[in-house]
Amino acid sequence: ISLKPFNTFGVDALAKKFIEIKEEKELYSLYDNGVFNEDFFVLGGGSNVLFTQDYNGTIIKISSKGIQHFIEGNYVYVTANGGEVWNDLVWYCVNQGFPGLENMALIPGTVGASPIQNIGAYGAELMNFFSSCRAFDTKTGKFTIFTNAECQFTYRDSIFKSKYKGRFIITAVTYKLFLHSKRNTSYGAIEEELKKRNIATPTIKDIAEVVSHIRVEKLPDPSTVGNAGSFFKNPIVTQAKLDDVKSLFPNVVFYPMENGQVKIAAGWLIEQCGWKGKQIGNVAVWKNQALVLTNIEDATGVEIYDLSTKIIDNVLKTFGIRLEREVNVL
Ligand code: EPU
Repeated sequence: ISLKPFNTFGVDALAKKFIEIKEEKELYSLYDNGVFNEDFFVLGGGSNVLFTQDYNGTIIKISSKGIQHFIEGNYVYVTANGGEVWNDLVWYCVNQGFPGLENMALIPGTVGASPIQNIGAYGAELMNFFSSCRAFDTKTGKFTIFTNAECQFTYRDSIFKSKYKGRFIITAVTYKLFLHSKRNTSYGAIEEELKKRNIATPTIKDIAEVVSHIRVEKLPDPSTVGNAGSFFKNPIVTQAKLDDVKSLFPNVVFYPMENGQVKIAAGWLIEQCGWKGKQIGNVAVWKNQALVLTNIEDATGVEIYDLSTKIIDNVLKTFGIRLEREVNVL
């Protein structure tokens, strides 16, 4: 089966076997049939993966749907099944008047994938709203619950990308939202757009709409231009390293972090190296956001990967900073 419709890069790769799961209990029979004894890869929306070769194993697509909530005191617990589209969950919450997730509107992908890389955007991060998740252990064939602390969230990272990489299948996530939380408009781009719209006291719906608008303007729509959002992580460096960079490039864009380190805007680094909008063969660096690589026409995964390597080398040479890929390369 071709994986082209199942990855937002639109890369054509073949999978030996493909199984779609509509209910989590189907995982038991996969376990009993030995599927997890061979190579397997779990796919949600396919929006953070790059296939550089055919997959010689089983692709498991999680398509279980359903969202529920219950209110307890000042909090609402929203539980969604892994196959729900993340943006649908955001709008479920917005329409119910549950605040918190609106800054993360229109992030591509599914609920089940959301904790894996601790998704985030426009001043919000999943880890601040995550209560727990239910996951199937492909080693033991049993379900288990992970609390927030157990997931070991950091910037675009969790235990599911490190120690437990490839082991657990997340089938449901419970988000804990504070019903009286303040609107989070601290991100510059949100502030600007609210001002433009003359909105002084935004509702959560206003924020979801503003964020969606900004994303549509800046990021390519995967249904027309193949891409996987940010291809690289924003690198985290020491203050000393930042000072180094600053002495040569006073305009460097960065965000201070709580631990005293700083996050540098990778898009800025890549743009400084002259890559923004550049096309090599069938792959291009997006014209409005240099952190995004795009499949112009029938690019192979290898072509996309090769361009990313060129960018990494170039940024390393220019700034002495090694970019890391955010996308899963298979
Ligand atoms: N910038 C440039 N040139 C570029 C791109 C960015 O100079 O080509 C500078 C600009 O100064 C801009 C700043 O970098 O103001 C930050 O850019 P942006 O607001 O677009 O955010 P980002 O740091 O590039 C991160 C996330 C995005 C998320 C946005 C908004 C990562 C790896 N990426 O990008 O997440 O949508 O913030 O919050 O953390 C994703 O993970 O797939 C993703 C799209």
